[in-house]
Amino acid sequence: MKYTAKKDRYKKNNFRRCGNSGLDLPLITLGLWKHFGGKGLKNESKKIIFRAFDRGVTHFDLANNYGIPFGTAEINFGKLLSTELKKYRNELVISTKAGYDMWPGPYGNWSSKKYLISSLDQSLSKLKLDYVDIFYSHRFDPNTPLEETADALSLSVKQGKALYVGVSSYSSRNTIRMNKLLLERGVKCLIHQPSYSMINRWVEYDLLKTLSKLGIGCIAFSPLAQGMLSNKYTNIIPKNSRANDNTSLKKQMINKSYKNKIINLDLIAKKRNQSVTQMALSWVLRKREITSALIGVRNVKQLDECLDSLNNLNFTTSELKNIDKYAKEQNINLWAASSKH
Ligand SMILES: NC(=O)c1ccc[n+]([C@@H]2O[C@H](COP(=O)([O-])OP(=O)(O)OC[C@H]3O[C@@H](n4cnc5c(N)ncnc54)[C@H](OP(=O)(O)O)[C@@H]3O)[C@@H](O)[C@H]2O)c1
Repeated sequence: MKYTAKKDRYKKNNFRRCGNSGLDLPLITLGLWKHFGGKGLKNESKKIIFRAFDRGVTHFDLANNYGIPFGTAEINFGKLLSTELKKYRNELVISTKAGYDMWPGPYGNWSSKKYLISSLDQSLSKLKLDYVDIFYSHRFDPNTPLEETADALSLSVKQGKALYVGVSSYSSRNTIRMNKLLLERGVKCLIHQPSYSMINRWVEYDLLKTLSKLGIGCIAFSPLAQGMLSNKYTNIIPKNSRANDNTSLKKQMINKSYKNKIINLDLIAKKRNQSVTQMALSWVLRKREITSALIGVRNVKQLDECLDSLNNLNFTTSELKNIDKYAKEQNINLWAASSKH
């Protein structure tokens, strides 16, 4: 597929500054966790990436283990980065992470320096890049000294393999510790990547305040609660849906209390001329601490609908009050173990 990016891609200027850094990120970022792995990119997945960039999405989020088998999302995206997207490299912010199970043995999981550095080297080779823009510690490791993880992150910057570093799913307490350790090593923690959505609000307890105080940006992953914040599940579980895969989104999560929330949130969204999916994204972005909402999509139609949420980012006090009646915890935070420490 020959590709030339649209000339008007920055017309809307939908960017927000990442903490107190010099880096702007798009309000919506595309994540390549699902739908971008396997043996080569599907045609639709390629279209999603090009469409996203055409609409001003400059940030693409990966991890060493994205795709089935693990790592294939980086391989597939690397092929695009070395061909159709090559001339746009300076316009792109590419992130990757390490911290979950990647290869066998003691050096292919968690957060030792040995694992993080060799994983980053592997990611760079798969992505066919000299450097990534952001390298993350994917989760907190209770059995590795945080100093060692900080050493690995700072080394990645000093070696020029990453421009910035961040953490994902760290508690407020461990974010403060990591920030201090990184500063002692002459590196700043750019960004935190936590899960956050209308039905998973743990970051509001203390993390967002901490990030704001430390000048660290925040990119909220799974802002659609893996697709639960849509009205696709109110009657059935559609065949082409994440809940039907029954992997990270278990069918049991589609229960009565969840459906009741969605039906009511959908009514509020309609009054705003938005779908519940669009309102969910605008809602996450209502907080200035949130730099970007990190979504996943299975087709261009979903992507366009998500990006159109940016047409209405304002909420009245009464709308927010009304939303709060239904935007309550649904016990869906699969990543909670990492932030318990
Ligand atoms: N740091 C971490 O530990 C971590 C963990 C998870 C994810 N992430 C990052 O966050 C990214 C996003 O995660 P996610 O995919 O769970 O995010 P999400 O945006 O909450 O969920 C994506 C799913 O929502 C549904 N969806 C999207 N747009 C829709 C629309 N317009 N209408 C109806 N349904 C729509 C689709 O579900 P269907 O497939 O059912 O159609 C899609 O697969 C990942 O790619 C990854 O980069 C990071």
